[in-house]
Amino acid sequence: MKSKKIITVFGATGAQGGGLARAILLDSNSPFTVRAVTRDINSDKAKELAQLGAELVVADIDDKHAVEKALKGAYGAYFVTFFWAHFSPEKEKEEVAIFVGAAKQADLKHVIWSTLEDTREYVPLTDQRMPTLHGQYKVPHFDGKGESDKLFIEAGIPTTFLLASFYWDNFIYFGSGPKRGENGVLALTLPIGDSKMAGIAAEDIGKCAYGIFKGGSEMIGRRIGVAGEQLTGNEMASGLGNVLGEPVVYNKIPAEVFRGFGFPGADDLGNMFQVYDEFAKELNETRDVSFSKQLNPDLMNFEQWLHKYASQIPI
Ligand SMILES: NC(=O)c1ccc[n+]([C@@H]2O[C@H](COP(=O)([O-])OP(=O)(O)OC[C@H]3O[C@@H](n4cnc5c(N)ncnc54)[C@H](OP(=O)(O)O)[C@@H]3O)[C@@H](O)[C@H]2O)c1
Repeated sequence: MKSKKIITVFGATGAQGGGLARAILLDSNSPFTVRAVTRDINSDKAKELAQLGAELVVADIDDKHAVEKALKGAYGAYFVTFFWAHFSPEKEKEEVAIFVGAAKQADLKHVIWSTLEDTREYVPLTDQRMPTLHGQYKVPHFDGKGESDKLFIEAGIPTTFLLASFYWDNFIYFGSGPKRGENGVLALTLPIGDSKMAGIAAEDIGKCAYGIFKGGSEMIGRRIGVAGEQLTGNEMASGLGNVLGEPVVYNKIPAEVFRGFGFPGADDLGNMFQVYDEFAKELNETRDVSFSKQLNPDLMNFEQWLHKYASQIPI
């Protein structure tokens, strides 16, 4: 029997990496096997992956030697950084430098880097339509990732650049779901005007990544955006209302108001939604739903996601 190729999956106990790890492990004919990276092999999520057949390795992405060890002997890797754990694009850039150095040393044959747009290509720092944040970014959690793409290119790493969309799961875990107003009506508050925003079930990102690894050499060097559907605020509110059993209105607010909400990262997210609104054409062209479906035939649209997860939305 031919031995399976090892894919080292960072964030394997989380949303993106978890989707990929499970997609590989649940496919008994997969040419790949999973080396799941975690900082805690005793967590329930890590144990669950081990039960499905993953090899567990301990590494923090800030630890160069641990990352190198996690990649030793691997065919490929899924690289993702965790902006919301620290809010620092500088840290993300340092982590990518560690990934790139280790990928080079391990002579990986295929890397997927979970990146996002450098929005400064659309909105230069001199553009006053939105504030500049941390002195040199417009959307810090996008820009640091996008800026880091060049590290993979310059080092000659065989990379596919994967751009995720807004996770619909943010309606469950990230406080983005509908909230009851003083009038008692549920409202979905977003500053995306009347634009269609690309969204996706978080679990589908990893399944699309699996399609990319299966695609092999023809996927290398490509920028692939993934989305389950592109929807307006009204369309998302109406879908939510259908499954929650009561009306949900779309509360369309200016990005400026969202930035002022004051929770950590509100300014970053306000700018992001403004980019999703004002550059909807560009962002949606990058995130092609039909290609995402080719990569992952199980890809869910919003209605399917709602039917699976609506009961978990806190209202
Ligand atoms: N939310 C969205 O709509 C959205 C959309 C596009 C892109 N993104 C991007 O997605 C990224 C996060 O990916 P995700 O949602 O898959 O993350 P996640 O679900 O929060 O998963 C994070 C996992 O990674 C591990 N981890 C965290 N810090 C680590 C570290 N320092 N070293 C090693 N492992 C670490 C943790 O596992 P252990 O505890 O087991 O170590 C955790 O289970 C962010 O950078 C964000 O900008 C988010």
